[in-house]
Amino acid sequence: MIALRFGDLQQHSDVLWLRGGGSVTVRFIEPRDAQVLQGYFRSLSVHSRYNRFLGAMSELPQTELDRFIHVGEGGRFSVIATVTVNGVETIVGEARYAFDTDTASFEVALSIDDRWQGRGIGSALLRNLECRAAAFGAKRLFGDTLRSNDVMIGLARKSDFAFTNSPGDWKLVRFEKHIDLVPQEIPCASWQLAAQQTVHQASA
Ligand SMILES: CC(C)(COP(=O)(O)OP(=O)(O)OC[C@H]1O[C@@H](n2cnc3c(N)ncnc32)[C@H](O)[C@@H]1OP(=O)(O)O)[C@@H](O)C(=O)NCCC(=O)NCCS
Repeated sequence: MIALRFGDLQQHSDVLWLRGGGSVTVRFIEPRDAQVLQGYFRSLSVHSRYNRFLGAMSELPQTELDRFIHVGEGGRFSVIATVTVNGVETIVGEARYAFDTDTASFEVALSIDDRWQGRGIGSALLRNLECRAAAFGAKRLFGDTLRSNDVMIGLARKSDFAFTNSPGDWKLVRFEKHIDLVPQEIPCASWQLAAQQTVHQASA
């Protein structure tokens, strides 16, 4: 598995270029982001929050917020997509992912601020998550979404995911994709490098 340097998480930041111009930065969440992240979730529309958490939720419960800000615990990671607005770093999206070494599966969930939806950030973030999955050595990338979530389903379809029933919940559909990339094929420079360094360390 990829070796992340938790003491220096900023080295794992990515800049994602958007189709209409402009960019967002994706970086791991840090404990100092807790309140801003909670503010981000509170500011989502009821509809977006419902779709993100697969049910009604007004904010993250404190225990869940603690999990979000402790990156890497239990093989789970949270990232935020940010832009600078009037000199202030502003969260425009987030994603959470979990890597299961036993099944080489990488599970994702994401959201984009309502005011920033429809600009290609979700697509760019999902592509970035694919790079992260490949760097971890995942063979399968998947997520569960509500059957009623046309936008997420449209995004997954456009991103070449296949669909199956989510085990145990008829209200959900699972989007999934097989990943079969060697490190040098990973289409994100930073994650290609991280994967190559891991292979190099393992063989040294
Ligand atoms: C789903 C979500 C992440 C998409 O993010 P986004 O930044 O708006 O997505 P993009 O702008 O990259 O659009 C991606 C694709 O979604 C699809 N899409 C967008 N709106 C759509 C709609 N109303 N119906 C169907 N498909 C739609 C299109 O295929 C679109 O690609 P296109 O613009 O090239 O046609 C965002 O809407 C969101 O945060 N929703 C609330 C939380 C959520 O549903 N999370 C998913 C849980 S896993």
